[in-house]
Amino acid sequence: MKKTKNNGKKLWGGRFGEKTARVVESFTESVSFDKRLWKYDIEGSIAHAKMLGRQGIIPKKDAALIVKGLSGIAADIEQGRFRFREELEDVHMNIESALTERIGPAGGRLHTARSRNDQVALDIRLYLRDEVKEISGLLEKLRDIFIDLAKKNFGVIMPGYTHLQRAQPVLLSHHLLAYKEMLERDLERLADGLKRINVLPLGSCALSGTSLPIDRQYVAELLGFGKVSANSIDAVSDRDFVIEFIAGAAILMMHLSRLSEEIVLWSTEEFGFIELPDAFATGSSIMPQKKNPDVAELSRGKTGRVYGNLMAMLTIMKGLPLSYNRDLQEDKPALFDTVDTVKAALEVLGAMLPNIKFKKERLLSTAGEGYSTATDMAEYLVKKGLPFRQAHEVTGRVVRHAIEKGTDLDGLSLEELKGFSPLFGTDIFDAIRVQSAVAAKTSYGGTSPGCVRAQLKGKSRSKRPS
Ligand code: ARG
Repeated sequence: MKKTKNNGKKLWGGRFGEKTARVVESFTESVSFDKRLWKYDIEGSIAHAKMLGRQGIIPKKDAALIVKGLSGIAADIEQGRFRFREELEDVHMNIESALTERIGPAGGRLHTARSRNDQVALDIRLYLRDEVKEISGLLEKLRDIFIDLAKKNFGVIMPGYTHLQRAQPVLLSHHLLAYKEMLERDLERLADGLKRINVLPLGSCALSGTSLPIDRQYVAELLGFGKVSANSIDAVSDRDFVIEFIAGAAILMMHLSRLSEEIVLWSTEEFGFIELPDAFATGSSIMPQKKNPDVAELSRGKTGRVYGNLMAMLTIMKGLPLSYNRDLQEDKPALFDTVDTVKAALEVLGAMLPNIKFKKERLLSTAGEGYSTATDMAEYLVKKGLPFRQAHEVTGRVVRHAIEKGTDLDGLSLEELKGFSPLFGTDIFDAIRVQSAVAAKTSYGGTSPGCVRAQLKGKSRSKRPS
């Protein structure tokens, strides 16, 4: 078998009389970042070669040689014995030219009935399909951590907030389980996007298909795709699935960022709701007493990068005429950075959260401050027959009176209260205890222990894509 050495010769060099300028090579290359697709590129090429051989488009023995050669290249790359060359532009041409070096002219048959346009679309879909599954696994883990924390801290009462002002007492578990809901929506979005990722573009070729008798269904089966793309022009120019993924990732990062913001706030002296594990905090180079929540801050900060990637992708696409344009090569830095950022944030927060200590006494004592059970006083009056608007008005006046007196609601006497409404009886004092206030919120989805237990048991609405 004759081996040919490729000394950086362009695979598309035939019609060119001049060498590519160095500055153009380094401006247009993508191998520095798309080499991370190598495994998928080879997987796709193996399926393609098998199909070409099976259809008699290339000799069966050449197809077998190609498959063997590609497996050898995969082993080389895996073991760090492969040199990716910038002058060969991208991962696709690096691997193809290594194949021909290895197996001789038969390697030149691989690119039959294929273009890099459908090839790169295939590679990203294969890559993203795997990453979505991995990210979904990390998301499920984080979701389960919230469920565990909610179980472990069941019964702990904390102040619930609106406008970042203490509003009403709630169960800490109820607050934690709000994140379970958010993460389950993220899982659903990923699983839904997967339906549109899992479509085979290969066989669309440059844009119009091919005159050769390919079998796309067979390739789809080999690669585990549920569908074959229906329009070759769309298939090579579509990056909706990338945008959808990054949009889902941006929402997911927004959730992690809100969580991070709460971790930052709650670990302050001012809130004092949690103690961060030492292993997940950092110190100051000048102030010896400092313990900073950098993990949460960086998760919040990195959210901006993912938003930026979403904006980049939308902007890259907005002016593109059909079908493939080289601009599309810019999808990969945005996509890869999003995948890396989301995975890193999910991993580090997942490692930190189980080790956060909740300061139960502080949570409970602040839960009762700030007239947080005033709504319960109003609802008490409603239960005694007063229209809610009047009950609100009466309670508002009671609160103002208490503020002027410098006392909490339970520091007022029954006589004082009766001065505001004859409907007040001795049972009001139980109604405005934080424990009673929490226990009374029995409406579906509310904060009473029974309702929160139901949320804990609530079956996850989404299933991890498999
Ligand atoms: N590196 C290219 C990309 O990422 C591969 C496809 C190139 N196709 C082409 N006709 N130049 O999109």
